Amino acid sequence: MTEPVTVHVPLGNRAYDVRIGAGLLARAGVEIASLLARPRVAIVTDASVARLHLRRLQDALATEGIGSEALVLPAGEATKNWDNLSACVEWLLERQVERRDVVVALGGGVIGDLVGFAAAILRRGVRFVQVPTTLLAQVDSSVGGKTGINSVKGKNLIGAFHQPSLVLADIDVLDTLSERDFLVGYGEVAKYGLLGDADFFAWLEDNAPSLRGDAGLRQRAVAHSVAMKAGIVTRDETEQGERALLNLGHTFGHALEAATGYSDRLLHGEGVAVGCALAFDLSARMGLCPQETPSRVLAHLRQMGMPARLSEIPGDLPDDQALIRLMGQDKKVVDGRLRFVLARDIGDAFVSDAVDIALLAEVLRDAR
Ligand code: GLY
Repeated sequence: MTEPVTVHVPLGNRAYDVRIGAGLLARAGVEIASLLARPRVAIVTDASVARLHLRRLQDALATEGIGSEALVLPAGEATKNWDNLSACVEWLLERQVERRDVVVALGGGVIGDLVGFAAAILRRGVRFVQVPTTLLAQVDSSVGGKTGINSVKGKNLIGAFHQPSLVLADIDVLDTLSERDFLVGYGEVAKYGLLGDADFFAWLEDNAPSLRGDAGLRQRAVAHSVAMKAGIVTRDETEQGERALLNLGHTFGHALEAATGYSDRLLHGEGVAVGCALAFDLSARMGLCPQETPSRVLAHLRQMGMPARLSEIPGDLPDDQALIRLMGQDKKVVDGRLRFVLARDIGDAFVSDAVDIALLAEVLRDAR
């Protein structure tokens, strides 16, 4: 078995390690012990993850003499709301979690975001450890300190930056993901190659079809993605500039998610995949990147069995103008101007607000 890899996120007094490897859940007690002022933690998870992994985590903590109690929330995106945030904070207060204590978020992006936000506001900030159990959470949402919940007006509109004190990404737990959930996370892995590392994208073209079955390749892909994210977050923690590149594909993706009612018709990573294909199409039409590049992006997404065109999203979609209006809700909008992550080539993305809306409508029309 390969040893865990450590990616350090050097953010001064908020610095932390992301540990990536097989069997980390079973080592959680050893990994977490040095953070604790007293031998107890509060764990927050969801019902699906609790069934699969909670016992193993609690046993691993108990082996090191660390006591734990767990709050199990419902699974699903709808959990990321005020009611569950309030339930989580009140539960932590009832357990008398203090500022020197550590809260553990065991789950995917929904749990990581909600529990991170609860930790950010509890007693004006307690430490928390992310134990991400999905590929998406391991390569993206558990790293970088974005925490929050959804508003009825949109996703992730309420939140705070609050960095974890440790991230434990056990690549073995990815075995429990369905093919579709694995691919949802893969959309974010491919995104790193597309936005900033052409060699990584070429490596993915050769190796990504084997990621699911090969723990070594999986560890390498997760570690490389996390290292790229850590670099970006370290240079631009609060998204004043470069961090916006992590939103490649997201302006399109978020609009499509909204248009499909945040339902099973299109999961987040699938929206990102379609969005990446559209962003490269738009970049080529604007003369920014070579004409053949969008086909390469499309071919890779197809090779992985991911949706890449609007026509591959089940059900009807609103018309182009309605989709463009939904893009207006994007957090990158400044003074009402849409801002897109575009690309000069694979691995060379940048943010632009100079997008011709007629051209944008053309891209959407031709992707149907
Ligand atoms: N998921 C995008 C970011 O963390 O900035």
